[in-house]
Amino acid sequence: MERAPCLLLLLLPLMLVSAATPEPCELGDDDIRCVCNFSGPQPNWSSALQCMAAIEVEIHGGGRRLEQFLKHDNVNADPRQFADMAKALRLRRLTVGGAQVPALLLVGLLRVLGYSRLKELTLEDLEITGTVPPPPLEATGLALSTLRLRNVSWATGGAWLAELQQWLKPGLKVLNIAQAHSLAFSCEQVRAFPALTTLDLSDNPGLGERGLIAALCPHKFPALQDLALRNAGMETPNGVCAALAAAGVQPQSLDLSHNSLRTTAHAGASGCVWPRALNSLSLSFAGLEQVPKGLPAELRMLDLSGNRLNRAPRPDELPKVGNLTLDGNPFLVAGASRFQEDPMNSGVVPACARSPLAVGMSGTLALLQRVRGFP
Ligand SMILES: *[C@@H]1O[C@H](CO)[C@@H](O)[C@H](O)[C@H]1NC(C)=O
Ligand SMILES: *[C@@H]1O[C@H](CO)[C@@H](O)[C@H](O)[C@H]1NC(C)=O
Ligand SMILES: *[C@@H]1O[C@H](CO)[C@@H](O)[C@H](O)[C@H]1NC(C)=O
Ligand SMILES: *[C@@H]1O[C@H](CO)[C@@H](O)[C@H](O)[C@H]1NC(C)=O
Repeated sequence: MERAPCLLLLLLPLMLVSAATPEPCELGDDDIRCVCNFSGPQPNWSSALQCMAAIEVEIHGGGRRLEQFLKHDNVNADPRQFADMAKALRLRRLTVGGAQVPALLLVGLLRVLGYSRLKELTLEDLEITGTVPPPPLEATGLALSTLRLRNVSWATGGAWLAELQQWLKPGLKVLNIAQAHSLAFSCEQVRAFPALTTLDLSDNPGLGERGLIAALCPHKFPALQDLALRNAGMETPNGVCAALAAAGVQPQSLDLSHNSLRTTAHAGASGCVWPRALNSLSLSFAGLEQVPKGLPAELRMLDLSGNRLNRAPRPDELPKVGNLTLDGNPFLVAGASRFQEDPMNSGVVPACARSPLAVGMSGTLALLQRVRGFP
């Protein structure tokens, strides 16, 4: 037994070394997911090679400037030489985050990925420097179904969407843009997104209804079905209605939850006509003390949960609704006790807890605290 502590002492430095310098990339046992974190000092970039087998790859740059890669010949090299390699990749979902990326490097990556079978691309916490050049004629374009951007800034301001779009094939179905630095798109340059069914502009608290009009380039989203505007600085349902009418979009479902909504005094004050196709509307966690006037006359689904309704809405205050959700309003006793200690009760969510997950979590935390008798 005496020897065991000595052995431990011997092993300890080894363990510390391996704990201090982990491999930046880790490929899951099933070869499905591979995550690289290059935050450490002097990261070993070639570690990323082990992700070649993965279907889902996440790369975090630790806020690094990636200019160094521009010096390599790989950017000037003809991307077609990577075509066979890219075609062999199993990659379907790619996340790139936490870096300052020259636009030239980004388009180099997009061009090579154009030969792959990548379907979903997520860019987050990126600063794109320099202008995005137009693709050469022979470039195939990236056949994405889903593009997500969160906290991506572009040197070219509102022109970025049109510039990025040139590198994509027209089949994009889902576009999410959160924490955007500019949503004032140069609409004349944006081409239509003929297959786009879901546009999610949630988590842009500075957007507002004026910004929404600028972001929804008229006639560029002809196939839009779902529009999500959670926590997007929307002020009144009628204001949103007017913005939708101005842009000529016809969504079937509209999510206005987690906005601090005011109810307008008069029905039809704006005289707005809601999209004909609209059948699902979420107004949950919007701080509402009464049902807003001027809602669509008929809906399949209306979510008013987590508001501040002090009494049950009268039928004449509500649209004709198939599925009405009123949970978590003070007039429902059970709901009141459930939400009283919940900061979400205010309807407007603190900056750190806007996602549905965070809302669920804070509810769970409140519950745990009560069960365990924590202060
Ligand atoms: C990457 O590793 C750093 C420590 O080196 C850690 O602080 C950070 O949270 C990690 N990032 C991700 C996305 O895992
Ligand atoms: C970098 O990572 C690769 C692949 O994991 C490995 O073969 C190589 O030895 C590493 N180089 C250094 C200097 O750690
Ligand atoms: C947004 O991205 C930048 C890097 O471009 C980063 O420095 C910043 O912390 C990110 N902001 C948030 C709120 O994550
Ligand atoms: C009604 O809507 C709620 C919330 O969106 C959903 O959970 C529920 O399944 C719906 N009920 C029916 C009958 O469609």
